[in-house]
Amino acid sequence: MLRGKHIVVGISGGIAAYKIPELIRLLRKEGAEVKVTTTKNALEFVTELTLQTLSGYKVYSDVFAAINEHSTEHISLPDWADAMIIAPATANVLGKMANGIADDALTTTFCAMRKPVVIAPAMNDKMYECPATQEALRKLSEWSNIILLDCAAGELACGTTGKGRMQEVPALAETLRYALTGKDLASKHVLITSGRTQEAIDPVRFISNHSSGKQGTALALSCWRRGAQVDFVCGPSAVYPSVPTFFATAQQLRNISVTSAAQMAEQTIQLFPSCDVAILCAAVADFTPSNVAKEKIKKQPEQNEMTLSLTTTTDIAATLGKTKTQNQKLVGFALETCDEQNHALHKLQSKNLDLIVLNSLQDKGAGFGVDTNKVSLLFANGTKKDVPLLSKEDIADCIVEAIRSL
Ligand code: C5P
Repeated sequence: MLRGKHIVVGISGGIAAYKIPELIRLLRKEGAEVKVTTTKNALEFVTELTLQTLSGYKVYSDVFAAINEHSTEHISLPDWADAMIIAPATANVLGKMANGIADDALTTTFCAMRKPVVIAPAMNDKMYECPATQEALRKLSEWSNIILLDCAAGELACGTTGKGRMQEVPALAETLRYALTGKDLASKHVLITSGRTQEAIDPVRFISNHSSGKQGTALALSCWRRGAQVDFVCGPSAVYPSVPTFFATAQQLRNISVTSAAQMAEQTIQLFPSCDVAILCAAVADFTPSNVAKEKIKKQPEQNEMTLSLTTTTDIAATLGKTKTQNQKLVGFALETCDEQNHALHKLQSKNLDLIVLNSLQDKGAGFGVDTNKVSLLFANGTKKDVPLLSKEDIADCIVEAIRSL
């Protein structure tokens, strides 16, 4: 996602500055190029050598000290950059930026920056509540190129508990991905089912499957970055999408946790009428115990076998397929172990889907639990597209591109 992107990281003098070397590493690991600018105070918390070593570039922290080297760095950095992030942004720096004060390397660079800027405030809770800080935050939140993060609540460096923490490094990276993604799904409402369901046998046991929820999570983030409002109905999986909290903007991704196939069906069927697209990625149980025992089922002496009576669950995809309007798109998944394509095509037609994503357990590196996947996209108009082995994030982007072409 960040491959080849040029990112300027601006650090001001808050204790959260100690986390920024980790951010630089993460951005570079994703293939971004990073240059750093700091206030003088920031260098009390993190050394220039650390930042230079991790970024691979000299740090721009003093407008005058190395005038020959930097000269008009505050202009060339914004020209070089695709995006900037200011983290942590202290109350002092927020106040300056909101009011056009540009008196050091970081604030002059910001002032000349017309590309997307992510701001991650961090300060003591009293400083956060200060009317001047709130006014600065409000002003900055209205700039069209700024994505302003809210502070998180929790334990603060000064020993108190309150609102003022910087959002964590993964959330900062996620906001940069968001900032650098075109909003081609803005005003679209996307419903995604993900993970597995659990069908209770008794209070202790259940029937389930190996789905990790990774592909569904990647799909949710891909849609969210493109500006969609996402309802994510998820069974008890290992992973859930987590998105940063913006200042003064409603949350665009809603996690709705369910356990059983019946609960997933109830939530999904209720949400579908208001959605433009439903992506049914969940591995829903096809059968559920006919009766859930009230007490733990005991093994009897000499018992050699036990029979469990199962009933079919509601097929969510087929149900939505029956009520789908002309303006709605329905996408299903198929995980097959044999005669894959024929099974998938049958599902595509019988459930009235617009697209089915076929992944096979035969393919190495594809399917349950792993971070990669290899899929074929089968469209209702009869066309087919094979997507090679890629990360689940890249597969998600391919699927979303395919949905946009429907
Ligand atoms: O028929 P099968 O379960 O293999 O179909 C897979 C597709 O149908 C997936 O998109 C899955 O999310 C969806 N499905 C569903 N409700 C079920 C079972 C599967 O929506 N009860």
